[in-house]
Amino acid sequence: MTKKTIILGIESSCDETAVAVIRDNGDKIPTILSNIVSSQFDIHKKFGGVVPELAARSHLEKIDLITNKALEESKIKLNEIDAVAATAGPGLIVCLTVGLNFGKAFALSLKKPFIAVNHLEGHALSPKLNSKLNYPYLLLLISGGHTQYLSVEGLGKYKRLGTTIDDALGEAYDKTAKLLGIDFPGGPKIEEFAKKGDFQKFKLPKPIIKKGGCNLSFAGLKTAILRIVKNIKTEQEKFDLAASFQKTIEEILYEKTKVAFQDFNKKKQNTNTFVVAGGVAANKGIRNKLIEVSEENNFKTIFPNINLCSDNAAMIAMAGLEKYKLKLFDNLDFQANPRWALDENAKFLKGAGVKL
Ligand SMILES: Nc1ncnc2c1ncn2[C@@H]1O[C@H](COP(=O)(O)OP(=O)(O)OP(=O)(O)O)[C@@H](O)[C@H]1O
Ligand SMILES: [Mg+2]
Repeated sequence: MTKKTIILGIESSCDETAVAVIRDNGDKIPTILSNIVSSQFDIHKKFGGVVPELAARSHLEKIDLITNKALEESKIKLNEIDAVAATAGPGLIVCLTVGLNFGKAFALSLKKPFIAVNHLEGHALSPKLNSKLNYPYLLLLISGGHTQYLSVEGLGKYKRLGTTIDDALGEAYDKTAKLLGIDFPGGPKIEEFAKKGDFQKFKLPKPIIKKGGCNLSFAGLKTAILRIVKNIKTEQEKFDLAASFQKTIEEILYEKTKVAFQDFNKKKQNTNTFVVAGGVAANKGIRNKLIEVSEENNFKTIFPNINLCSDNAAMIAMAGLEKYKLKLFDNLDFQANPRWALDENAKFLKGAGVKL
């Protein structure tokens, strides 16, 4: 029997130190042998956001320990690892450097190939750890730093169809949470609050909903919420505002996804697979709304498992495995790239002044 490929993945682009080991299964879905994620919520909580230097220091302190844990749990021997994959961008440079350098050194010591992974490609391929997924497909990436519709035409081949012109969706959730007095990161808490509220109590704007193709905008929501929050007196009103926010986001995504389907269909890809990935893809209300719009438009939705939506190293190992199969190895002088875009040809599109 031929040995199945084993990849060790490392992730340190922001505030999660993560190491995972996955094993290829030929035509079947790869097996996650271990997937350790150490979050730094407690370190950054009091600052209301990630402090880069503190994050980098914590990665440095923990990377050894987390790697040992991942190796131990995977029950593999070091010489069974076929390649080491590490996130090289996008992200915070001081954080990326820790995992990237550790990964390079680890690959060198094992005398095995090193693979630099785009963190966003990790998100894009994360559903391959629970579902069969073939190229091409339409991707909606909704994370803490990005919100984009992309046509995924193959490994490393991305065409951006739409993007946020201001805040990322995860950022919009976190900022709303902060205004409601919820600790960072507030996305999951907003979802909980929303369940206890009446979404009809507050009316929030849906910026650029009828223009700009499938580009999106969320900054106006934050301004509207700031105004409402000042007059809120009861806990119930907080729940109502969270419910209104959640409902508004669902409606924005519903409308913009319809446009994205049309744009994707124009590319004549002859496929109707719609992948939704990134931290915000864990939100059940958003999942249900996107399933609804997909069914209405004859698309089939695929999500990562809930525990693989937020940052993890299994998705980095998954992208590493795909690159390994094509022998796309990287040199040990590969530099961290804090702004590594999936579609490097896409136009820069930011700011309220943008005419759409
Ligand atoms: N259930 C949820 N509902 C809404 N938002 C959520 C939920 N769970 C997580 N999030 C949000 O997801 C974001 C984290 O996602 P992720 O880890 O993919 O982002 P990131 O790595 O910081 O950004 P990027 O991947 O763009 O570099 C946070 O903004 C968090 O609030
Ligand atoms: Mg991420």
